[in-house]
Amino acid sequence: MIPAQRIRADTRYVIQLPEPDDFGFWRERARALVQCDVPPDRIAWVEPGGSGDLFGRGDLRVPSPPADAPQIRVSRRFLQLAKNAALHSDPERFALLYRLLWRHQANGRVMEDKADNDVRRLEDLDRSVRRDSHKMHAFVRFRVVEDEGVEGSGDEHYVAWFEPDHHIVRANAGFFVRRFANMKWSILTPRLSLHWDGETMREGPAAERGDAPSGDPAEDLWRKYYASIFNPARLKVGAMLKEMPRKYWKNMPEAALIPELVAGAQQRESTMVDAGTLEFEERPETLAAIDKAIHACRKCPIGELDNHAVMGEGPQDAALMIVGEQPGDQEDQSGRPFIGPAGQLLDVHLERAGIDRGKAYVTNTVKHFKYVQRGKRRLHQSPNAKEIDTCRWWVESERAIVQPKLLLAMGASAARGMLGKTVSITKARGTPQMLEDGSELWITAHPSYLLRLDGEAREKQERLFDADLAAVAQRLAEMADS
Ligand code: URA
Repeated sequence: MIPAQRIRADTRYVIQLPEPDDFGFWRERARALVQCDVPPDRIAWVEPGGSGDLFGRGDLRVPSPPADAPQIRVSRRFLQLAKNAALHSDPERFALLYRLLWRHQANGRVMEDKADNDVRRLEDLDRSVRRDSHKMHAFVRFRVVEDEGVEGSGDEHYVAWFEPDHHIVRANAGFFVRRFANMKWSILTPRLSLHWDGETMREGPAAERGDAPSGDPAEDLWRKYYASIFNPARLKVGAMLKEMPRKYWKNMPEAALIPELVAGAQQRESTMVDAGTLEFEERPETLAAIDKAIHACRKCPIGELDNHAVMGEGPQDAALMIVGEQPGDQEDQSGRPFIGPAGQLLDVHLERAGIDRGKAYVTNTVKHFKYVQRGKRRLHQSPNAKEIDTCRWWVESERAIVQPKLLLAMGASAARGMLGKTVSITKARGTPQMLEDGSELWITAHPSYLLRLDGEAREKQERLFDADLAAVAQRLAEMADS
């Protein structure tokens, strides 16, 4: 640092950033420069690989502020936007940030002027960085490879290739660690690479597309999934291209289907209309809208019975979503999920595991009670695969709004509702599966199944149920900490 008394009024400064996304470094230097009253046009901010000879020669040292330097004025809004804007690839971004910081000292309300060019530019940078981060969250596709050097070990490593527009990779590492904490993965990009081994994050150098694998069997699943959720009635090609630019298609196995699906969309739509099966046009955007829609739903015969739809309940931002099969007799009458005998048993076990039901979103994969009338009694009947698959639309819509990090599916119907296929509870329990949105699915038995057992069989199943819930509780705690 240059001592305050030796600062010359005409000195020009060249500040070299160690990393293109090092906002902390910029902030520290910028504060010192403002406190030393160095105007924006006497500073060149240079990122790695950038040209530092803007001024011919400049002082590479930062002046140290005098002891009586005034406090820095800065608005919260500026700091929020500046952190993001610093990740933009515009070489002028650090100069813009400094100019605005400088201007804050004379006018603490500079950010409120929406017509100001600097403010508008900052907002633009922030917006495109957020958009790039969103694309990274949405379009990174991992391909599985076997861990290097441990051939045949079955130790799986997931590798993805991604080309960001801006310096967002490091800033988004935490998102992928939280989402895929239990996997070993690498994200390779032309800027840097990230490697997570399940415990620690390591950074590596820039990579090339050819360093990443280009396909694996899981891609068939992606393609099938995409084709199954593709709704020709909702196709808006312009909007789709805006949201999912062609640039990302090559990394996304499902994108190979897009031209074909688009071409076939009109045909499929008219076939669906003819068959009376044009099912659900737009996903409801609120839980209240889902609630309203399920009451009117007659897409399968269960809705035609004398019953009421039962909506899920719980906080809209719940980290945990608990999914059952369908409402029972008492749920149908009260309009609330899991309040009858199965719900009461569930409550006992949740409490034992330390899971607060009030913080979970509790719902069912089928929204209406399916039963047969026997005298005055209505006897529960399990929904069949077709009914579950039809009704999945609603629980998927709830998932899209609540966005739980972890889903607990209880019983085979709930598991099918989450996965779209039948799985064995015995085989599936205990090991989480990653769903297409990055959330974790845990599968366990249904509490009604426990109620039907007694003696040793019941004790054994209750122990297994407790173990599943304890694992879920632990996983939730880890997710909350990360
Ligand atoms: N069983 C379920 O699966 N859900 C309920 O809401 C009640 C019983």
